[in-house]
Amino acid sequence: MKSFSCVHTLVALVFLLPFVFTQVWDQGFDNENFLYKIQENVSCADNQYPPPASDKVPTYVINLDLPPKLRWAQLMIDKKESALHLLQDIKTYTDSFFRGKLFPLLDKYLPLMAKTLPEPYLSELKGIAEVTGIELGEITLYNIFYEVFTLCTSMISQGANGKIYHGRNLDFGLFLGWDVKNHTWQTTEALRPLVVELDFQRGGRTVYKTVNFAGYVGVLTGMKPGRFTLTLDERFSMEGGFVGIIRWLLGDHSANWAGFLMRDVMEKADSYHQALTTLTTSKLLAPVYFILGGNTTDQGAIITRGRNEADVWFMGRGSVSQTSTWYLVETNYDHWNQPPFFDDRRTPAVHCLDKMGREAASLSGLFNVLATKPIFNKLTTYTCLMDVSTGQFESWIRNCPDPCKPW
Ligand SMILES: *[C@@H]1O[C@H](CO)[C@@H](O)[C@H](O)[C@H]1NC(C)=O
Ligand SMILES: *[C@@H]1O[C@H](CO)[C@@H](O)[C@H](O)[C@H]1NC(C)=O
Ligand SMILES: *[C@@H]1O[C@H](CO)[C@@H](O)[C@H](O)[C@H]1NC(C)=O
Repeated sequence: MKSFSCVHTLVALVFLLPFVFTQVWDQGFDNENFLYKIQENVSCADNQYPPPASDKVPTYVINLDLPPKLRWAQLMIDKKESALHLLQDIKTYTDSFFRGKLFPLLDKYLPLMAKTLPEPYLSELKGIAEVTGIELGEITLYNIFYEVFTLCTSMISQGANGKIYHGRNLDFGLFLGWDVKNHTWQTTEALRPLVVELDFQRGGRTVYKTVNFAGYVGVLTGMKPGRFTLTLDERFSMEGGFVGIIRWLLGDHSANWAGFLMRDVMEKADSYHQALTTLTTSKLLAPVYFILGGNTTDQGAIITRGRNEADVWFMGRGSVSQTSTWYLVETNYDHWNQPPFFDDRRTPAVHCLDKMGREAASLSGLFNVLATKPIFNKLTTYTCLMDVSTGQFESWIRNCPDPCKPW
């Protein structure tokens, strides 16, 4: 019986909140006006790049030659206070929702769940728990939380020379404590100090680079220099995620956590094509979008994943969501459908990319699009820009000034 209530808790975490979100906003908005507003009145940002140097994300080296338990020690010693602060915030907001029952349950059952996670991730999480004094269960939650609560925009474009650029905004913290006075999401605020660039090295040389929230050991944004770039966007599904997680809890561990699979790909794949094959064919716990860029012309793909199935949309092909074929945009909706009126970040992104034009495609061009509201919103924690051919990898903490939409 007890493990049953744990399943319920996770189900609620994964599904209830997006559901409430759609219900509430269905009531609260005038659909037609809102669409009109978005389509007619997007003003594409320009001259936003580079942002102030103070917004640059700090870099840490993760030494893959160390045993997994020790790899994250230095980072987590530095970020311990911020991590505790974030967990306290998540506790406050989810506890009011679950009447104080959630965290005792998680502390009890998530360590059991942790023990089922694949290596080296389990050892890495144990190391983080030791250094910070945070319960292994809570660190585990922290590592599966992002898979279910992230909203994002990712885009790949190629310049007139065929060079591939990849950019993304990572939006996180929906429902977790809207501060009416300050117009901020408390959890999003608590996350910003945790954003770090990680340089994963072996033998003193970079193998891949990522942007992470300190304490998270999977990958949501990464680049293998000279080879490929990869980002993950959340894909909502009423049924997909929760079935997969329940199966995992019941002992079927054949599927992959998406963030860990991304890190496996960064580790093992040596080319765009290898990455494409792994991301397309591996079984997943929950639906996601993988946005993959390669190192030459037309190497770009949006991989829309279910737990077993995959739709691959390649650069160079149009779709109902965009007629231009020199870029690909993914937010959190299938490219063959229109995004919902209450969360349309795709239409403005497509509009601004078309306005910019292929000749102007560059990291600074992508940054301007990613700085355009509502692609840039109150949930945006960071913007990452990647140029695979030069190895340029940079990320910036983002803080949307008022007036700015909550998401
Ligand atoms: C859009 O912009 C036009 C002119 O710039 C303005 O007249 C109109 O009221 C705006 N529409 C909305 C919905 O804000
Ligand atoms: C709102 O912002 C003010 C000033 O930055 C800060 O002192 C206050 O604590 C914030 N309120 C909350 C609820 O975080
Ligand atoms: C692109 O990736 C392939 C496959 O890994 C590699 O052989 C090739 O040298 C790379 N090209 C460039 C220009 O880096």
